[in-house]
Amino acid sequence: MKKVGVAILGLGVVGGGTYKILTDNKEYFKKTQGLDITVEMALEKNVDRAVSLGLAKSQVASSIEEVVSNPNVDIVVEVIGGVEPAKTFVLKALMSGKTVVTSNKELFAKHWPELESEAKKMNAGLFFEASCVGGVPIIRTLQEGMQANKIQSIKGIINGTTNYILTKMANEGSSYEEALKEAQRLGYAEFNPTADVEGFDATYKLSILSSLAFNTKIAIENVHREGITGVSKEDIKYGKELGYTLKLLGIGKNTENGIEVRVHPTFVANDNPLASVNDSFNAVHIVGDSVGEIMLYGRGAGALPTGSAIVSDVIFAARHTNYHYTMFDNSAKGNKETKFVSDFTSQYFIRLSVQDSTGVLSKIAGVFAKHNVSIREVKQVAERDGKVPVVIITHISPESAVNKALEKIKLIDGVFSVDSVIRLES
Ligand code: HSE
Repeated sequence: MKKVGVAILGLGVVGGGTYKILTDNKEYFKKTQGLDITVEMALEKNVDRAVSLGLAKSQVASSIEEVVSNPNVDIVVEVIGGVEPAKTFVLKALMSGKTVVTSNKELFAKHWPELESEAKKMNAGLFFEASCVGGVPIIRTLQEGMQANKIQSIKGIINGTTNYILTKMANEGSSYEEALKEAQRLGYAEFNPTADVEGFDATYKLSILSSLAFNTKIAIENVHREGITGVSKEDIKYGKELGYTLKLLGIGKNTENGIEVRVHPTFVANDNPLASVNDSFNAVHIVGDSVGEIMLYGRGAGALPTGSAIVSDVIFAARHTNYHYTMFDNSAKGNKETKFVSDFTSQYFIRLSVQDSTGVLSKIAGVFAKHNVSIREVKQVAERDGKVPVVIITHISPESAVNKALEKIKLIDGVFSVDSVIRLES
């Protein structure tokens, strides 16, 4: 039976989950995969943590050199996160000809070209299923299950923390701050939640996923990013009344005019399958020209779900040693010919505060008409101190036209403020 030696760099939540799956299911993998996988060692500063998981003290390395010089280690699993020291460790492992499996989306989104070029040079494997959407097998689906397709779009809820926060705001009418506090208490959100709530985490994932989907390098700089910190409970409430649910979506589209890639709060109609993906769950909806629509759903984070993705890479790497690398120009700048759409089109949810007096709505409608922005739905809420919230849903329109119209609308006598502009995907 083929023997496979694994080293785990970092025994935090995901490293611990990976160790547990590899050791608990050792006999099962012998039977089902014909592989005898052993965790040979781990690189972990906290030796007590390693020992409490079941490793012997002698298996705990104190330097990357110890790991990469061990001839029994075939596969190095990097689950430290962040760019450094993870990048140095991964490069050292690849330079020693070890195959690397990583869950590190930031490292991958920022330094994929460098890592891949080292892997190619050394004929080593480089696997990253766990970097995007945790336990959901989205990378292998794109790489090994959808090759027949030109992918037209990929849309997903690819961050669990923000999905938890938005679900709580929708179900309980909580404010953003209250929902964030609860997410922190439950361990979904970090003490410093910026990476999740400002959309960085989703941007890293969308950069990787859309590169694979559209077979061209999509750098993080190409992704339009907006987080959820400006979302108000009023928007969620009025959206709900109109039949829409607010989600932080990662959206990639390959259109006639070019590629568009964006992460931002988005209303989706309640009959869209993404609308019912709640709490910390993730889901990705893909449209391919041959297969049509597919959707994957599951846990995007956590010890065992992310460990599941890592172990599937370990097994895949052990069974497919003729490694495959990206066929597109994966250099840092990518293919200069790739065209990106900057003025994308969308439907819009617009919330205004206006004076409840004759003619205000008609003036607003007039400005939209002048800018060729067609209104689909209008909701005016009962008067509150003479200040009335008005929600307008547009038909699909260019963003530049909507913005120009709103600049003019702000100047109308009787319009107090434009309180929110949120894109809507039907
Ligand atoms: N923090 C991420 C999330 C998981 O909330 O989905 C790891 O990317």
